[in-house]
Amino acid sequence: MARKLLIDTDPGIDDAMAIFYALNSPEFEVIGLTSIFGNAYTEICTQNALRLLEIADRTEIPVAAGADRPLTVEFKGPADFVHGANGQGNANLPAPKIQPINQSAAEFIVDQIKQHPGEVTLAPLGPLTNIALALLLDPTIVDDIHEIVLMGGNAFVPGNASPAAEANILNDPEAADIVFGMQCPITMVGLDVTEKVYMSPEVLDHITSFDNPESQHLAKILPFYHDFFTGRRGEPGIHVHDSTVISYLLDPALFTTVKHPIRVATSGISRGKTWPAVGLADVESPWSGRRDINICVDVNAAKVIEMELDRLK
Ligand code: RIB
Ligand code: CA
Repeated sequence: MARKLLIDTDPGIDDAMAIFYALNSPEFEVIGLTSIFGNAYTEICTQNALRLLEIADRTEIPVAAGADRPLTVEFKGPADFVHGANGQGNANLPAPKIQPINQSAAEFIVDQIKQHPGEVTLAPLGPLTNIALALLLDPTIVDDIHEIVLMGGNAFVPGNASPAAEANILNDPEAADIVFGMQCPITMVGLDVTEKVYMSPEVLDHITSFDNPESQHLAKILPFYHDFFTGRRGEPGIHVHDSTVISYLLDPALFTTVKHPIRVATSGISRGKTWPAVGLADVESPWSGRRDINICVDVNAAKVIEMELDRLK
């Protein structure tokens, strides 16, 4: 039976890749997309989620609009230098014809989990605000979530949005700290592995050469993303962030993981840093009482890329 997958997303160029990857994987029944700010403002991310479903001809999948700001502070603004002002590489795209449903993302998340107890996997690919709001709306959802597999954080490597923090977590550290404290199975697919999955220009040429609308859309948006990475890394190619969540869900055996509780720093220069409690388990600390997070630390990158190429063709 296909696994029920609810994707919370800030599309975003790499989000678009991940969504198409999931939609093209029969192992999943994508039961909805929920939008969140991050790569662009929430309103734009909602429009993009709708557009991506139209491109993939999957307009039966509902989209619920999410929060438009972090839990306790103002949104510090979109990553337009990475994803373009429209979140889709500034490609000229028509307005979507379909509409979001009449429920907030948090309400929709609670509703789906309660309708299908023990069956829903959450795949957050952006800041964790909607997931935290769903928990605040109904704390009993933790008993009914199958698993959360999220893109975000950096356990043993530097950040990408500050020296300390990864972008999704830094966009709402308070929400992230709530989510990492949830008593349900959580896997963190953070920079520790996503920066090891590198797509070369040759792989990108391949991904954008298939004869299908998803590939043609990626051909329009990926050059912007590629230019950003080339400038930042000083060499061509991209890191594969959000799609790596889908790869983990398809084949966790391709990943090495370690288990530690995580706290998220919410102040000071390490704001947004995901701190694993390594050792000192017997000492009372802010990590005490927290469930272990399954933290991805290594990956068979070649196999992961092969699998994504295979699904996107
Ligand atoms: O740090 C990478 C993450 O930030 C990805 O989810 C990307 O889409 C951006 O949201
Ligand atoms: Ca994202």
